[in-house]
Amino acid sequence: MNNQSIGVFDSGVGGLSILLEIQKLLPHETTLFVADQAYVPYGGKTKVQLLDRVTRILDFFEEKEVKAVVAACNTATVYTIDEMRERFKFPIIGTVPVIKTIASLTKSGKTAVFSTPATAKSEYLQDLIKKFAHGVEVDCIGGSNLEELVENGEVNSPETIKTLKRILEPLIEDGVDAIALGCTHYPFLRDQIQEIVGSNVSVVDSGGAVARRLKEVLSHEKMLADTKKTDVYYTTGEAEKFNKVASLLLGNKIEGLKINL
Ligand code: DGL
Repeated sequence: MNNQSIGVFDSGVGGLSILLEIQKLLPHETTLFVADQAYVPYGGKTKVQLLDRVTRILDFFEEKEVKAVVAACNTATVYTIDEMRERFKFPIIGTVPVIKTIASLTKSGKTAVFSTPATAKSEYLQDLIKKFAHGVEVDCIGGSNLEELVENGEVNSPETIKTLKRILEPLIEDGVDAIALGCTHYPFLRDQIQEIVGSNVSVVDSGGAVARRLKEVLSHEKMLADTKKTDVYYTTGEAEKFNKVASLLLGNKIEGLKINL
């Protein structure tokens, strides 16, 4: 038994989609969430820049004596998780696109991963595809301003719908029938995405898999909690903006604290 908190981080509010799954599956756990909004988006950053940001966040979590960390960000995971696991003692659970799932769901043999530009061009993603998508085509789509639109709470704006249509319609015309959401901001656009691609196309995110993996690790290490304390939210950006958008996305009032990292 271990009632210390779990650190969860992302470049911004996208990581809240993973946090929701963790809170659902592990209701006794307490979480500390960091949105690194002073440095969002991560999707256009280099490995060196990402290593610097993630190290600062994990140093902060270490000071807070967390028992485990979840990188609720595909971009941070694919570029930094190996180095972070070497550097820090606590278990680190990453978030990656669910390639195995889309490969098992497709009937047409054509699938897509929809992510940030950095994740789309990463070697890590290519390795996952080689390992888990035998005989299946995987189109890696990166590059849009959707993260920014979600950061502004614009999940239903005309610009968001227009951008989604521009990206998704050609995939559907091409016969893609299974899409992995490879950025944690996108599950907040799930209804809009499903509406555009239609009900015959599977749209899957990584939230459930990350929460299950976290439970497995905590259980194996005998670190599951039995008493929940208050969840805490931090942003390196503006607290007022974070509170407004996080409250909108989570559907309850969030009061985050500003930190400098
Ligand atoms: N939410 C992040 C991810 O899963 C990154 C978004 C961004 O900052 O570009 O990759």
